[in-house]
Amino acid sequence: MPTTNALRLSTSQVEPMVAAPHQPVLYHEIIHALQPNSPGFYVDGTVGAGGHARGILEACAPDGCLLGLDLDPQALALAREFLAPYGERVRLVQASYTSLHEVLRGEGWERVQGILLDLGLSSMQMDNPERGFSFQVDAPLDMRFDPSRGLTAADLVNSLPETELVDLLFRYGEEPRSRRIVQAIIQARPVTTTGQLAEIVARAYPKRGRTHPATRTFQALRIAVNQELEALEQILPKAMDALSAGGRLAIISFHSLEDRIVKEYFRRESRDCICPPRQPVCTCGHKATLKEVVRKPITPAEAEIQVNPRARSAKLRIAEKL
Ligand SMILES: C[S@@+](CC[C@H](N)C(=O)[O-])C[C@H]1O[C@@H](n2cnc3c(N)ncnc32)[C@H](O)[C@@H]1O
Repeated sequence: MPTTNALRLSTSQVEPMVAAPHQPVLYHEIIHALQPNSPGFYVDGTVGAGGHARGILEACAPDGCLLGLDLDPQALALAREFLAPYGERVRLVQASYTSLHEVLRGEGWERVQGILLDLGLSSMQMDNPERGFSFQVDAPLDMRFDPSRGLTAADLVNSLPETELVDLLFRYGEEPRSRRIVQAIIQARPVTTTGQLAEIVARAYPKRGRTHPATRTFQALRIAVNQELEALEQILPKAMDALSAGGRLAIISFHSLEDRIVKEYFRRESRDCICPPRQPVCTCGHKATLKEVVRKPITPAEAEIQVNPRARSAKLRIAEKL
């Protein structure tokens, strides 16, 4: 199995080929991991503005095809424009990647040779004040990837009982002061804007160091609003099922909660037996379904982080279907 560094590319290779609306993270590493070729079928389950998708389409030319999914109609509009030169080779669908099987069936595709998930939110979403993801600008407290359905962050903040809100901030934000923050939120209800929430948290939790005190609270709410960890848990077996033998799943995560889910799934599914370690005889009958392409996650080179500081926490794991 190659080491992490064997797959991490040199500093001269970190620049994506063209300026994309969102700077794709670990761009060359993704192409290297998926090894797209013609005439393969590839899925980008979080297509965003299409930066990685474009690289995959270039690599699987002339006949390879890509299916791009995203929950966000604004992201899909950008991807549609950015990927227009690839014509019939690209299909874009507004859907959660958890609906992968249904979407593949709808497109008449069976097995695919590569799947990418670049988790979390894009720079466009973060920087668009109307979406309510950022504490840097005042906006309605929304945070939905698909703004047409589901509860907003304001709905959660204003309606959840105290204990559930404390649990949410602690579990999804790993926020050590969740109790104190939630007490301040409850006193201030209704909380309707990002600015109001950021101020409440800052007052309950004076700033120390360089990180804004509301960072963890905002992360926790975004994960809860979009049910991100549940979606990730659901997609892993579905993605492996959709791959043909030798096909690859590449996942970029941006925080430890996501990475842990991917790591544990890959570890478990790469083993022939998952009985407890002290059990002398195997009774589980489990068979490995994948092999990990790299044991340690691939992280961006320092040169990429300098160009794109948001890449700093990215971790790429790759699995190959047996
Ligand atoms: C980090 S961005 C992807 C950027 C993309 N790789 C590019 O090069 O432009 C993540 C995208 O995933 C989308 N997303 C998040 N959860 C999703 C889900 N369950 N199903 C589909 N898309 C999702 C977000 O709306 C966002 O556009």
